[in-house]
Amino acid sequence: MPRSRILAAGLAHLAQGLYGLACALVGRRLYSRGYFERLYRRGSDPWNYSTSDYEQRKYRLVLEILPRASYSRVLELGSSEGVFTAMLGPLGTEVLGIDISHLACERARARCAPFPNIRFRAADIREAELEGRFDLILCSEVLYYLGGRRVLAGVRDKLADLLADGGQLVLVNPLPLAWWVHKVFRANRELQLLHEHLERDLRRPYAITLWTKVPEQVTSAASTPAATAP
Ligand SMILES: C[S@@+](CC[C@H](N)C(=O)[O-])C[C@H]1O[C@@H](n2cnc3c(N)ncnc32)[C@H](O)[C@@H]1O
Repeated sequence: MPRSRILAAGLAHLAQGLYGLACALVGRRLYSRGYFERLYRRGSDPWNYSTSDYEQRKYRLVLEILPRASYSRVLELGSSEGVFTAMLGPLGTEVLGIDISHLACERARARCAPFPNIRFRAADIREAELEGRFDLILCSEVLYYLGGRRVLAGVRDKLADLLADGGQLVLVNPLPLAWWVHKVFRANRELQLLHEHLERDLRRPYAITLWTKVPEQVTSAASTPAATAP
């Protein structure tokens, strides 16, 4: 790829990242359901997930970071048109994709029709009530659309509640926004960072992180000084 195109793509993503960061910091809810419905109405696969080498590599890296080959219940947040969800089909007994856009969910259902274990639900994760626990939760390129620190912290706690003990959570976020997201996630004592992969792609660098849930009584026992023998 010519150097000028890499530079232009890098600058465009940097500007988008800084804009997202500024919006997140001031806590504005810019990205409503209407925003995403309009985007999907303009055409299918708005981020070229099914054709872009960059995106396909990202999906491979996410699958590689997973410590287990199979899961019983998988939740994908911001599942879009189901390009990545289709790759999760063989991993989970049950896979649920949630997306704020009804149109994206409709297209995702059509794409994943061959997988009876994959379901989609059109819902805003900030408000959705979900049942049961998941042993794998994936949030790729979605958390920075949710709002400011308080909103993100609310979703973080909801995800921690939905995660089974010892379950795994994967976050994918562009840099430098990822640092802000990680700081918010570190503040939940049940979530423990296990692994971080930094992809230094010049067009748009990003971080993939793997977290696990350690039940609160274990984390507080670990931080309490051991009782001394009389
Ligand atoms: C950039 S796409 C990422 C798609 C997918 N996770 C991937 O990496 O291939 C972000 C998706 O998140 C969805 N989304 C944004 N805000 C959401 C919210 N509050 N609740 C659920 N989905 C949301 C959008 O509709 C969009 O499909």
